[in-house]
Amino acid sequence: MSFLSISNAVKTFGANTVVKGFDLAVEKGEFVSFLGPSGCGKTTVLRMIAGFERPTSGNITIDRQDVTNTAPNKRRIGMVFQAYALFPNMTVAGNIAFGLKIAGMTRAEQDARVAEMLGLIGLTHLADRYPYQMSGGQQQRVALARALAPKPQVLLLDEPLSALDAKIRVSLREEIREIQRQLGITTVFVTHDQEEAMSISDRIVVMNGGRADQIGTPSEIYNHPRTRFVAGFVGTLNVLRAQADPADRRRVAVAGTVVQLQQPVSSADVSGALSLALRPEALSLTPSPARDVAFAGRVKSVQFMGSVIRIQMMLGDEALSFDMFNSPDLVPPQVGQSATAHMASRDMFEISA
Ligand SMILES: Nc1ncnc2c1ncn2[C@@H]1O[C@H](COP(=O)(O)OP(=O)(O)OP(=O)(O)O)[C@@H](O)[C@H]1O
Ligand SMILES: [Mg+2]
Repeated sequence: MSFLSISNAVKTFGANTVVKGFDLAVEKGEFVSFLGPSGCGKTTVLRMIAGFERPTSGNITIDRQDVTNTAPNKRRIGMVFQAYALFPNMTVAGNIAFGLKIAGMTRAEQDARVAEMLGLIGLTHLADRYPYQMSGGQQQRVALARALAPKPQVLLLDEPLSALDAKIRVSLREEIREIQRQLGITTVFVTHDQEEAMSISDRIVVMNGGRADQIGTPSEIYNHPRTRFVAGFVGTLNVLRAQADPADRRRVAVAGTVVQLQQPVSSADVSGALSLALRPEALSLTPSPARDVAFAGRVKSVQFMGSVIRIQMMLGDEALSFDMFNSPDLVPPQVGQSATAHMASRDMFEISA
C-alpha cells in the first residue's frame, strides 16, 4: 500500500463542490506536485491531507493508518505556506524550536535539533536574526527548517516560492528538492507554475476543476497529455485544425498540407474535422530526413529571448510557434518573409476535449 493515499475525496463548501472524487497514491519518499490553475482545489486537497479541512466524503491514510478524522497535530505533518508565516517576534532559532518545545523535548535536545536544521538550510550564522532582518528566500528556508524539525512523516508545501523573485525561486526549489532527497521525506508540493512542477517532481498531478485530470511523471504529462486541458496547461502547444480523409483515416489535411499519420485518427467528428497538436520543439526551419512534413507559411513575429529565439509563423489563418537556439552567427528570419517549418509526422498527436 502507498505511504499516503487519498481515496475518492470530495469537499463541499455550502452549495459548492470544489474537490470532486480525488484519488492519489504517493509512495514513501516520493515528491509529488499538484499543478493547476487558481481555484482548482490544490490548497483544499493539501489542507485535507494536513487535517485542517475534513473531507465531505472519502478517506485519507498515512502509513496504513486511516487519518481522515485525526486532528492535524496527531498526523505528524510539516507544512510550509506561501510566505510570511514565521512568528515575527521569535528569532530564527526560536521559530525552528517552536514545534520541538510543544513536543516536549528538553532544552538540550531542542538546541541540538535546531543546530542540525540550521546546518541543513545553510543558515547557522543567522540563528539569532528576526524574520524582518532576512530576505524572503531566507525566511522560506527557515519555514522549511521549522516544518522539518519535528521529523514529520509527510511534508506539505503550498506555493512556498511564489512570493520570491525568479532567480531565488529557481535556486530555492533545487535546494528544497535536495533536502527532500537527503531526508527521503514524502512530499506534496503545490504550484501553478508548470516549469517548477516539471523540473523538481517525481510525479505531477494536473488538477482541473477539483479533479485530477492526469497523474504521471513530468515526461508522461508533457509527451502524452491525456486531455486537451493538460496538453494546453503544461508547456506550449500548437493546435491546428485538420481534416481526415474519409477513405483513409491515416491521411489528414493540415493547413493545406497532406500528412500521413502513424495511426488512424480516432477523434474526428462526422465531417472528418479534428484537432492535431504539436510541441514547439518538434518544429525546425532546417529540413532533415526524419522531418517528413513541411509547412510553408509566412513569419509573423520574431522574439529574441536570449538563448532561444521564438518564431511565430502563419499558415494561412493558423498560427505556429517554435523556438530556434540562438548562436552568435545566427541570422534569424525576418518578419514578413516566407519560411518553411519542417517536422516529423510522428510528433503530431490528436487532442480531444
Ligand atoms: N473555506 C472555504 N469556504 C468556501 N469556499 C472555499 C473555502 N476554501 C476554498 N474555497 C473555494 O474552493 C475553491 C478551491 O480553492 P483552493 O484554495 O483549493 O484553490 P487553489 O487551487 O489552491 O487556488 P490558488 O492557486 O488560487 O491558491 C475555490 O473556488 C475557493 O473559493
Ligand atoms: Mg492555493
